[in-house]
Amino acid sequence: MEIIIQPTPAEATTIAARFLAGIIAAKPEAVLGLATGSTPEALYRELVSLKLDWSKITTFNLDEYVGISPQHPQSYHSFMWENLFRHVNVHIKNVNIPDGLANNIPASCESYERKIGSAGGIDVQLLGIGTSGHIGFNEPTSSLASRTRIKTLTPQTLQDNARFFGSESAVPHHVITMGIGTILESRHCLLLAFGKKKARAIAEAVEGPITAMNPASALQMHPKVTVVLDAEAASELKMQEYYRWVYEQKPDWQKI
Ligand code: GLP
Repeated sequence: MEIIIQPTPAEATTIAARFLAGIIAAKPEAVLGLATGSTPEALYRELVSLKLDWSKITTFNLDEYVGISPQHPQSYHSFMWENLFRHVNVHIKNVNIPDGLANNIPASCESYERKIGSAGGIDVQLLGIGTSGHIGFNEPTSSLASRTRIKTLTPQTLQDNARFFGSESAVPHHVITMGIGTILESRHCLLLAFGKKKARAIAEAVEGPITAMNPASALQMHPKVTVVLDAEAASELKMQEYYRWVYEQKPDWQKI
């Protein structure tokens, strides 16, 4: 894992934006795995401001709530169109987000997996992390080999996401999420985490044992993971000075 620690979320976001802009420039038909949540909002703003060519880009989102329509203001469909897609020249036919209203959820999840395969796999998967260590909506005890499927949210996640829905009782209990196995098949994973609230989950994911109790720890098995943190999210890492030192020593060509 490559750990990049920046003083502020703004500086960390700029590093991630530059990296993704570089991917889009180098591979105009790249397949990007995208994430929602408050963490990537500034990243999407920065990508929009760079006026990149998204005309051949394909996207796959990590997850979606079950039972709310794409038009619901808190659906991840709405989030993505609001924060990114409507501001860039991506083709709607190349945008993929799990269908939270599917009649046959298992069949719809299998078809999502097949679509990722026929697109050639995901080049870069953007990830946030939940305070429980979840990636996508793979809550603790998710199988580390899991594929796209329905999951039930933990009380912790319902509480964390209540801020988007106005109250905890309004947060859907079920979601569809790419599995940890699906995420691990992406060629490069880029995880962003900001703020003190994420410090424990990050320390466990990066320096703890690989365990289904912290699903993000499965990323330790992936050959190419970049974790971009602000100082607060990095604050519980035992080796933080080492990660800073390693990053400072890198020649420019080796940096993301
Ligand atoms: C959400 C999403 C995740 C996201 C995480 C953190 O519930 N399903 O993909 O990474 O929780 O969200 P935030 O960035 O708002 O802290």
